[in-house]
Amino acid sequence: MSALQELEQLLRDASSGIRQADSLKTLEEQRVAWLGKKSRLMALSKEAGALAGDDKVAFWKRFNEAKGELEAAIAARKAALASAGTVESIDVTLPGSAMAHGRLHPITRTIGSILGIFVPMGFEIIEGPEVEFEYYNFDALNIPRDHPSRESFDTFFVDLPSPEPTKKGQLVLRSHTSPVQIRVMEKRKPPLRIIVPGKVYRPDPLDPSHSFMFHQVEGLMVDDKTSFADLKGVLEQFLKGLFGANTTTRFRPHFFPFTEPSAEVDIACASCQGKGCPTCGRKGWIEIMGCGMVHPNVLKAVGYDPRTVQGFAFGMGVERIAMLKHNVPDIRLFFENDLRFLEQFG
Ligand code: PHE
Repeated sequence: MSALQELEQLLRDASSGIRQADSLKTLEEQRVAWLGKKSRLMALSKEAGALAGDDKVAFWKRFNEAKGELEAAIAARKAALASAGTVESIDVTLPGSAMAHGRLHPITRTIGSILGIFVPMGFEIIEGPEVEFEYYNFDALNIPRDHPSRESFDTFFVDLPSPEPTKKGQLVLRSHTSPVQIRVMEKRKPPLRIIVPGKVYRPDPLDPSHSFMFHQVEGLMVDDKTSFADLKGVLEQFLKGLFGANTTTRFRPHFFPFTEPSAEVDIACASCQGKGCPTCGRKGWIEIMGCGMVHPNVLKAVGYDPRTVQGFAFGMGVERIAMLKHNVPDIRLFFENDLRFLEQFG
C-alpha cells in the first residue's frame, strides 16, 4: 500500500470512530488516538520523509487536508454531543403513549340529543340570561307578585341593585327557562318555534333528586292556529325519538300559571310497561315534562293579540331525563366531576 493509500484508509477509520463517539470522554480518546503524538497519522508523516518528487507533493497536500477534516469532524461531534446535553435520544421504535381523551359531559350530551330531535322539526335554538329580572321570571308569565304560585318557583335573589327596579323588578337567578319565551316574543312576531336549553337555579336542599342548579329545555311554538293536538303530536314524536319508538305517553291535567290548559306528560315505565314496579315507585308512569297552551295573559304581556295568535309551550328537566336514560340514581353525580363516573359516558 502506498503512503497515500494508507492515509485515505486512516481517514476513513478515523471519521467513523469520531462519528461513533457517544460522550465527550470517548471523543477525546478518539482525538488522541487519531491526531495525538503517538497516532498512526504522526507515524505516517515520519515514514513519508522517504517520499520524493510528485509523490511527496501529493502526499503532503492530502496530509494537510486530512488533518483539517479530522479536526473539523471532532469539532462537529463535540457540538452535537453538547447540544444533546442530557436529553436522551428518541427511540422511534418504542410504542407511543396514548393521550387521554376528553369527552362531553353527560348533561351536555343529553341536551344535544334533545335539541337533535327538535331542530329537524323546525325549532330554532335560543339561549337567554341566567341572571334575570323578576318581570321575566314571574310577572310576564302570569305569576303575580303576591300569588302563592310564586312559592312553587322558589327563587334566589341576586344581592345587587336592579338597573330597572320599578319596571322590571329585582334581579334573580332564573328559576326556569320560561322567561326566555317572553324575551323572544317581545322581540319577534309569530310564527315562531324555539327550543331553549340552559341552567336554572332553585334554593332546594341537595338530595338524590334535587340540586340548587340544574338544566331545563324549554320549547315554544306560536302562530295563528297552533292547537293542543299539535302540542301532543310534537311531544309524542319527541319522546319516541328520545326513549324509543315503543314509548307510550300520557297527558295528565295540571296547573301552570303561564299555560291554559296545562298538562304534565308521563311516559310508561320501561321496566314494567305501566303495571307498577320499584323503578316508577309503583305508579307505572314516569313524569317527564310540563306543557300547555300559552296563557292569553302571557300573549298580552308581549303585545300579541290572543284572539289571532295561539301557541304551546313545554319545559323539561335535563338531569331527570339523563338519570332515566342512563339509570343514574343520584343527581349529585353529575356535578361532582368524578372521572370514574364521567368516563362511563361517550
Ligand atoms: N317552567 C315550568 C317549570 O319549570 C315548565 C313548563 C314550561 C311548563 C312551559 C309549561 C310550559 O316547571
